[in-house]
Amino acid sequence: MSEPVTYRLEGRIALVTIDNQPVNALSHAVREGLDGAITRFAGDDAAEALLLTGAGRVFLGGADITEFGKPPRAPSLPDVITAIEGLEKPVIAAIHGVALGGGLEVALGAHYRLAMPGTSLGLPEVKLGILPGAGGTQRAPRLVGVAAALDMITSGTPIGPEKALEIGLIDRIGSGDDPAAAGLAYAEELLAAGAQARPVGALPMPQDAPELFEARRAALEKSARGEIAPLTALDAVRAATRLPIGEGLEEERRLFQQLLDSPQRAGMIHAFFNDRKVAKLPEIAGVAPRDFASVGVIGGGTMGAGIATAALLAGLRVSLVERDADAAERARATIEKNLAAAVKRGKLGQERRDAILSGALDCVTGYEVLGGADVIIEAVFESMDVKKEVFAQIDRVARPGTVLATNTSYLDINEIARATSRPQDVIGLHFFSPAHVMKLLEIVVAGKTAPEVTATAFALGKALGKTCVRAGVCDGFIGNRILSHYRAAADHMVLDGASPYQIDAALRDFGFPMGPYQVADLAGLDIGYMTRQRKADQRHERDRYPGWADTLYEMGRLGQKSGRGYYIYDEQSPRGRLDPEVEEIIAAEREAQGIRPRDFTDEEIVERYMAAMVNEGARVVDEGIAQRPLDVDVTLLYGYGFPRHRGGPMHYADTAGLGVIRDRIQRYAGGDDHFWQVAPLLARLADDQSTFASLNG
Ligand code: CAA
Ligand code: NAI
Repeated sequence: MSEPVTYRLEGRIALVTIDNQPVNALSHAVREGLDGAITRFAGDDAAEALLLTGAGRVFLGGADITEFGKPPRAPSLPDVITAIEGLEKPVIAAIHGVALGGGLEVALGAHYRLAMPGTSLGLPEVKLGILPGAGGTQRAPRLVGVAAALDMITSGTPIGPEKALEIGLIDRIGSGDDPAAAGLAYAEELLAAGAQARPVGALPMPQDAPELFEARRAALEKSARGEIAPLTALDAVRAATRLPIGEGLEEERRLFQQLLDSPQRAGMIHAFFNDRKVAKLPEIAGVAPRDFASVGVIGGGTMGAGIATAALLAGLRVSLVERDADAAERARATIEKNLAAAVKRGKLGQERRDAILSGALDCVTGYEVLGGADVIIEAVFESMDVKKEVFAQIDRVARPGTVLATNTSYLDINEIARATSRPQDVIGLHFFSPAHVMKLLEIVVAGKTAPEVTATAFALGKALGKTCVRAGVCDGFIGNRILSHYRAAADHMVLDGASPYQIDAALRDFGFPMGPYQVADLAGLDIGYMTRQRKADQRHERDRYPGWADTLYEMGRLGQKSGRGYYIYDEQSPRGRLDPEVEEIIAAEREAQGIRPRDFTDEEIVERYMAAMVNEGARVVDEGIAQRPLDVDVTLLYGYGFPRHRGGPMHYADTAGLGVIRDRIQRYAGGDDHFWQVAPLLARLADDQSTFASLNG
């Protein structure tokens, strides 16, 4: 293996290059190499300055995340950075691609910083449940001030070089496309001007700003939803205003270690690696996707218009087919509104918007236009008859090799595929609403879907910026199937005496952005009603029925869209307030079913809800609907608001212990042994004292 850190004299400048592909993570070998380079430079009389660069696509991608949780090995990154900072001759960092986390902290240990255009500079540690633990919380506020440092550290959002120059994080934006050459030229210029070592740690302590810290703390307490890292990072930055650099670094280390040992860190790192593993599937390894540049969308309602918007934002051409001219016009208006919102949020330039609307979008009524599409996505009403008719029509006009996708939420995609003469080209692309915003895309592989079609679906999902999860065909696929199970568990608790408001609050405290009854109000109570109707003939006589939900629907209480659902929405409470009438309706239902209500603690609510989620997740994995437990975790995280710091339901179960979850389910079965039956996979793993993670590969 080649050396991860090389040292070479370029005239009077020592060029130190870090080469640890793919992202130059600061592994033990890199830290050792850097340590050696520092010592060599200090004693190298021919070297007047040191230039730090990264080989390949990026400067430095940060600490080596795979080392977290393992015993630390010297030299530590903070020590290496302090040694860089302490060098008596100037040290310059030439940054390209990314400087993230420990990578940016290395640059902060340098005395001068140059970044190439397009670079991303950030301290994203809070997104991994930790804080910048190699001096970032102490050096960044000294360099850019408390407010700008807090912006970067507590949000974890990276910035570009222009902003970095404006706040003083870097000294210069380089030109050309060779960071080492730009860095060498800059180093020569600095030496010619007599530049000296200029340690950031020696800058004056930033002024304390109690009001700023208090305001930020209050805002974070609201937005962090139980995450501890952003608040702990805030404490570390505050320490920079109160302690000299050496003591500040020690305090940072103490807080870093505290976070490193927390289950939240484990959950977020589980999520980080899952984000990357989820699209790695043996069935499409080495399979080339088909080309796609144009997408046909059928149906321009809630989903079709959103899907079209997502495709347009990704630079694809879209032909949208609706039933009549009015509906086509409405679809176009919705898409225009979505694009205008994207311009407002800075996601799309005005010029590109104009170009899209004049050249890339067609909203029409005839199917012939679909003959030019590479991928066709159907998003018409959720009715098997309508969908079969639509697929028969697509079959007549689509070119051979076109991918034919359905956005169905529940229907049998094998049956839809049989309506065509080419089932190998048919696949499910299950988007979430709003489709141009939500990150999750379930890619539902049917019985006859060709691997090339699956590979194309993953490539398309990636182009649309989605996190793609492979699912198999069943009622509700991965996400909606599990949802219907834990929603039922919530409904059973309501029947037995819990209020929907208590359930929502308990689950918000757990970290969900909304509780299930707030979600129901958002989606519309008609959706749940229709689902209950659709499944009426599959209902088992022992299924417990949430009759009050039908009553609410029949009263026209459809949720947010009608101003009333579980909550009341009006001017004084746009986010909804409690409604005693709902409690009365529920109480009447309990009485009608002969149930004596009892109290629930918040803890029991969360435990039952999670047990239902995990149990159905285990069944979904066992049946091969999800290939691995991690696919369930990613689905719940990106489609259902599951708190990222808990990693996902299967990771949650591993953390709690599978035996504990199994025992809970067995206990609940004492009250209802129809709903609560331990999933066979959960039982097997619990008996073996194993984990879901053991199946993730
Ligand atoms: N450590 C170890 N492995 C890493 C890594 C890291 N910091 N960053 C990325 N990788 C791995 C990925 O897991 C992936 O591995 P596989 O190919 O086996 O799946 C590979 O590198 C390529 O990563 P991506 O697919 O993400 O590549 P990309 O080009 O899309 O993105 C990136 C590159 C922007 C650097 C992105 O990987 C990223 O954001 N990485 C994390 C950066 C980060 O959070 N750094 C902070 C680390 S914590 C820290 O530094 C703590 C501290 O204060 C001391
Ligand atoms: P919608 O009712 O808002 O839109 C359906 C559109 O299809 C209507 O505009 C209708 O005019 C059009 N349409 C019907 N038949 C057509 C035909 N033969 N040719 C062309 N257009 C036709 O419905 P929505 O919510 O957009 O749902 C569409 C599909 O997406 C359904 O299968 C649904 O289950 C699924 N879905 C819905 C989600 C949601 O949150 N709304 C989420 C994920 C999937």
